[in-house]
Amino acid sequence: MRRAGSFRVVLVLLLLIPVLRADGRSIRDEKVEARVNRILAKMTLEEKIGQLNQYNFDKPGIDADIASGKVGSILNATGAEQVNQLQRIAVEKSRLHIPILFGYDVIHGYRTIFPIPLGVASAWDESVVERMARVSAVEASAAGIRWTFSPMVDIARDPRWGRIAEGAGEDTYLGSRIAAAYVRGYQGTDLTSPTSIAACAKHFVGYGAAEGGRDYNSVDMSDRKLRETYLPPFKAALDAGAVTFMSSFNTLNGVPASANPFTLRQILKRDWGFRGFVVSDWNSVGELMPHGLAADKKSAAQLAFRAGVDMDMTSDAYVNHLAELVRAGKVPQSMIDDAVRRILRVKVALGLFDNPYSDVALEAKRLLTAENRAAAREIAQKSMVLLKNEGKVLPFSKNVGSIAVIGPLADSKVDMLGNWFGKGEAKEAVTVLEGVRGAIGDPARVLYAKAGEVTATSDQQIEEAVATAIKAEVVLLVLGEKGEMSGEAASRSELGLPGDQQKLLEAVVRTGKPVALVVMSGRPLALSWAAEHVPAMLEAWFPGTEGGNAVADVVFGDVNPSGKLPVTFPRNVGQVPIYYSGLNTGRPAGPTADKKYHSGYLDVAHTPLFTFGHGLSYTNFSYSDLQVSAPDAKNNVIAKVEVKNVGDRAGDEIVQVYARETVASIARPVKELKAFRRVSLAPGEAKVVEFTIAREEFGVWNGDMKYVVEPGNYTLFAGSSSDAVLRASLEVLSLSRSANRKATRSKRTPQSTKAPAGQGSQPAVSGAGQ
Ligand code: NOJ
Repeated sequence: MRRAGSFRVVLVLLLLIPVLRADGRSIRDEKVEARVNRILAKMTLEEKIGQLNQYNFDKPGIDADIASGKVGSILNATGAEQVNQLQRIAVEKSRLHIPILFGYDVIHGYRTIFPIPLGVASAWDESVVERMARVSAVEASAAGIRWTFSPMVDIARDPRWGRIAEGAGEDTYLGSRIAAAYVRGYQGTDLTSPTSIAACAKHFVGYGAAEGGRDYNSVDMSDRKLRETYLPPFKAALDAGAVTFMSSFNTLNGVPASANPFTLRQILKRDWGFRGFVVSDWNSVGELMPHGLAADKKSAAQLAFRAGVDMDMTSDAYVNHLAELVRAGKVPQSMIDDAVRRILRVKVALGLFDNPYSDVALEAKRLLTAENRAAAREIAQKSMVLLKNEGKVLPFSKNVGSIAVIGPLADSKVDMLGNWFGKGEAKEAVTVLEGVRGAIGDPARVLYAKAGEVTATSDQQIEEAVATAIKAEVVLLVLGEKGEMSGEAASRSELGLPGDQQKLLEAVVRTGKPVALVVMSGRPLALSWAAEHVPAMLEAWFPGTEGGNAVADVVFGDVNPSGKLPVTFPRNVGQVPIYYSGLNTGRPAGPTADKKYHSGYLDVAHTPLFTFGHGLSYTNFSYSDLQVSAPDAKNNVIAKVEVKNVGDRAGDEIVQVYARETVASIARPVKELKAFRRVSLAPGEAKVVEFTIAREEFGVWNGDMKYVVEPGNYTLFAGSSSDAVLRASLEVLSLSRSANRKATRSKRTPQSTKAPAGQGSQPAVSGAGQ
């Protein structure tokens, strides 16, 4: 009986989930909709347009405008007190008492700062992303923020573009899984919970493909590229429940993304069924004038609104011109109602009407707690990528006689936080020098030389640094970019170490001391000299509030590094864009010496410095026995591979599976990531890691721009990076289910293909290590 009772409770809870979930589609929930319609019915045209207007918090006259119903949303007001004060005007003084939605850029933490998003992506672990987003949501909501302008899900393949730091890197599949994890973390399972915040998938769309990596620059791409590479992470965010999207600054094939009915109305709202709302980027409606599409703000408002931008961020074009445009018949009233409904839906779904204020007493208790710091430290540990470790220079022993910590970034608090760190405070960040001192415990054994600034080091400062290195047993160099050198409007045309750091690096390496280089950067840097001459290299990105501790944890081996690159590192800037999933070309450059008439360069290898998915460990992993079965009755492909820890330390490995279609109607990438998983292995332990890959993952956008799974032969690869060589072949049969059934029935068991001999079926392929 008791069992039946608890079963019933579970059943009721399960049935409730879809009702509680308020995502991009299920905010269609009838009760939400009924409430939205009741409110809408009372609104004047001006009040409706007010909901479509977003002001920055410092807008002159904002209080009066809120009271007269002209403001639907505010960005950059923070802190429960400030937010409540503005909210009170809306709720108590405006005619319809509609609460304001407060938005803020919570990008990689609110007060507790986590590694930059590119760093978090390097953990290749959705639970890590979700945890960061959850902590961020709890902190931000305590400070009155119920909407973050995150995640940025733009695919980025050009490290010159500073905003590569804010995304998940170059890969569509990895980016899609990470996008969904952010949304789950921010929005939770119940948007009405006061600790849930609405996510915003941005920047829709194509922003990451800016020509020359120059921020805000034009984007031109084929429809196929758009659908295959740039749109899927947005779709994944929507499927995970993202209730808002942001339209981007760039033009896409000549049409500004904030005035593009094809992407906004057709793809997002019609084809994908998005029921939430689209906010413009900052003044991107006003920027339709410099783009050369609108002669004045009024036509900018008309173009953006008709294209599907529901809320205008700060340009004032909607609040000043939409009513007139409606009256002139240039904007249909039904379109206004639709946009207002979308915004009200999100406000109702967030529970703002019932719970518009934040608890001021809670705010301080929720920010930068010990638990949040611990989460930041663990996540930073997982985000670091060991690029090289020749002769097992790392980990350093804590019993080392002395260690020299050298470099302009070694003790720079603000740079630990990166570029866009919300309400994080530099003074609360732990630097690498502090982390090392804490780990060693004996200040006398830690020597330090700042060696100038990131942007300039004098010869004398280099000499001092060399003298410090000579005095020490081992050297930890901390070099790279300042936090402000990546992010928005921070494109670079060179990808080397800024300032005189290359000179500093070479001088310190010449001392012959064992050197480990910690790189802090918001993008892949071109570190060819270092890769050749420095024995150990650790990419730490900008690791956040607890970054210095996390670096020390890895450097001294308390933590075994496990991060993998979510983006390719080029040898030099001329290779850019370089990414692992390019097409083969008709003349692929091979390993031969003859480079002429092959797709390569005369002056540099065509291969990357560090490939996508690369990342070493203090142990080694071997891969063997890759087995693949053709799609089963549920249309899933099952891939299994054995992974063994063949070293003497416990470690995590990110097992990666790639596929390539051998012959297709459209030229296909040489490899595409199809699955990955983080597994923990004790020394000597082996695990068979099984992946279920949906058959539709093997589809292509064909010549008619239809997404189809073509029957054909695929090669599957498994390994510890995109260089994975262990392979097996797979035949995906024709589209009909009966054909699949026939194939499996005729074999009685699902077709299983072992790696054929001579096709890279090495019994064991060494993974990370060395
Ligand atoms: C401009 C940025 O492009 C966008 O990402 C951000 O959310 C808005 N400004 C608001 O700060």
